[in-house]
Amino acid sequence: MIIRKARIDDIDSIQKVIRESILATHKDLYPEDDIQETFNNYTNEKLTKYITNDDYFVVEDDGEIVGCVLAKEDKMRSLYVLPSQMGKGLGRELAEVAEKCIKDNGYKRIWLWSSLVAHGFYKHLGYKDLKEIPNEDGIVLHIEMEKVF
Ligand SMILES: CC(C)(COP(=O)(O)OP(=O)(O)OC[C@H]1O[C@@H](n2cnc3c(N)ncnc32)[C@H](O)[C@@H]1OP(=O)(O)O)[C@@H](O)C(=O)NCCC(=O)NCCS
Repeated sequence: MIIRKARIDDIDSIQKVIRESILATHKDLYPEDDIQETFNNYTNEKLTKYITNDDYFVVEDDGEIVGCVLAKEDKMRSLYVLPSQMGKGLGRELAEVAEKCIKDNGYKRIWLWSSLVAHGFYKHLGYKDLKEIPNEDGIVLHIEMEKVF
């Protein structure tokens, strides 16, 4: 396993990780529109911008991309692990790489919008709740969290 910066030719594999990770964990909790909106956040065009302008990392196992994370200014985004690889410490490793990157970029805190399924994971990693983020219908689907360095 290696964690490295993402390249433009990783985009298809990153989209596969995001799609499979979300379908495996969000399907019963999230309205279809919200799932689609998440996929829309990771189009080829948007991923190209993130990879070019920000710090986007992937974890590669024997040539296969199995997880990803984006450090965008002081925000951590796009933390996804392939379902078959969950529970093996990769989520923590990716989060720690993003945290170090944000810290090294001079920020004093890191913040994120946690999905409902990842909330316990982020709490376990030391993040504190800031506020609930409702969707257009008033349903809380994300929790804003932060960790101060
Ligand atoms: C959330 C996610 C990234 C975690 O990755 P993972 O590789 O499965 O998690 P890890 O194996 O690295 O777990 C790290 C630690 O968190 C703990 N943990 C994992 N999930 C947890 C949960 N739901 N509640 C509490 N603790 C949790 C683990 O026990 C482990 O503890 P340890 O290091 O003290 O032994 C992954 O499950 C995922 O992709 N989920 C779906 C997509 C998603 O919601 N992403 C977040 C978008 S905001």
